Amino acid sequence: MTYRIFPIRKASAQQLAEIHQHCFSLGWSAQDFQIFFDNPLYDGFVIEENQFKIVGFIDLHVVVDEAEVYTLCVMNGHRRKGLGWSLLEALFIKAHQLGVQKLFLEVAEDNVSGRHLYEAFGFKKIGRRCGYYLLGDHGVTAIVYERILTDEG
Ligand SMILES: CC(C)(COP(=O)(O)OP(=O)(O)OC[C@H]1O[C@@H](n2cnc3c(N)ncnc32)[C@H](O)[C@@H]1OP(=O)(O)O)[C@@H](O)C(=O)NCCC(=O)NCCS
Repeated sequence: MTYRIFPIRKASAQQLAEIHQHCFSLGWSAQDFQIFFDNPLYDGFVIEENQFKIVGFIDLHVVVDEAEVYTLCVMNGHRRKGLGWSLLEALFIKAHQLGVQKLFLEVAEDNVSGRHLYEAFGFKKIGRRCGYYLLGDHGVTAIVYERILTDEG
C-alpha cells in the first residue's frame, strides 16, 4: 500500500465530507466544503492510498501571518501509520512558505488521539472553551492549541 500527499481540491468536496462524517459525530457536508473552497485563503492537503482513494486530509485558513487548522482526519484502518503526522508536516511547511508565524487549532478535551498527536508535534495548550462543541443536549469543552513557527523548524 502506498500513500501520497496532494493539495486539497474542490472536486473532492464529497469525499472530504464522507471522511469528515466518518471521523466526527458532527460531520461537515459537501456543501460546507464547497463554501470553504470559495475562500481563497482556504488550503490543505489530502493523503491518497494507491493514488486514487483519499484516506485523510488536513485543512487550514490563513489570515495574514496566522492560520487556523480546521480539521485533521485519517480514516479508521489507516491510523497509527504516521499519516496524521505527515499531513501536519506538509501543512506546516506550506504555512511556513506562506509566511505564517502562528498556527492555532481547537480539539475536544476528550479527544485522546488528537491531543497526543498535536502535543507530540509541539502544539502548546493556550486555553479552554467550555461547551464549544454541541453534542446533542450538552457541550464538549475544546482545548485551544498554538504552535509558533520558526525558521529552525
Ligand atoms: C487524530 C488522528 C488524525 C491521528 O492520525 P494517525 O494517522 O493515526 O496519527 P499518526 O499515526 O501520525 O500518529 C502520530 C502520533 O500521534 C499520537 N497518536 C495518534 N493516535 C493516537 C492514539 N489513538 N492514542 C494516543 N496517541 C496517539 C502518537 O503520539 C503517535 O505516534 P506513535 O504512533 O509513534 O505513538 C486520527 O486518529 C483521526 O483521524 N481521528 C479522528 C479525527 C480527529 O480526532 N482528529 C483530530 C482532531 S481535529
